[in-house]
Amino acid sequence: MRIAVYPGSFDPITYGHLDVASRAAAIFDKVVFAVLVNTHKAAPIFATEERVQVIHEAISEVCPADIAARIDVESFDGLTVDFCRRLGATFVVRGLRAISDFESELQMAHTNRKLAPEVDTVFFMTALEHSYLSSSLVKEIAAFGGDVSQMVPPSVSRHLVARGRGL
Ligand code: PNS
Repeated sequence: MRIAVYPGSFDPITYGHLDVASRAAAIFDKVVFAVLVNTHKAAPIFATEERVQVIHEAISEVCPADIAARIDVESFDGLTVDFCRRLGATFVVRGLRAISDFESELQMAHTNRKLAPEVDTVFFMTALEHSYLSSSLVKEIAAFGGDVSQMVPPSVSRHLVARGRGL
């Protein structure tokens, strides 16, 4: 069983993340969205449990059933590699949108490999149509009441509306 962990803040999940997870699920037996509990990023829009819930809903409404069946969602605290070991995962999945992502992703991949040589990082080039997207931009647009419906799955829009942010 080849298990891949897809770690991130996912605050909120975007179509770019969903695309990466779906493509990873076509390669690995199981892909687990690993939602970081204590993101150091300023002012999370959704609490951890809500981010997990939003991703679950997004998978079931956006991904084809055979792909959705291979994607799980969990939250984690601590090191990504420790979470991988707990799950028996031997791959970490990350998306690369642009050269600007590369430097920090390279550093993380090397660090994780130093900590856990049995865990390898696999990168997916974010789909061109999603390569401009970022969760922080989505957050900013939603905070000012802008329309993010082309950037995020319907579950995110619903949860934003429920808390009076975004369209
Ligand atoms: O969505 P993000 O914020 O870019 O994801 C960053 C994340 C969660 C992948 C990274 O911060 C992480 O792995 N945090 C867990 C702590 C850890 O393992 N740190 C060492 C990684 S080099």
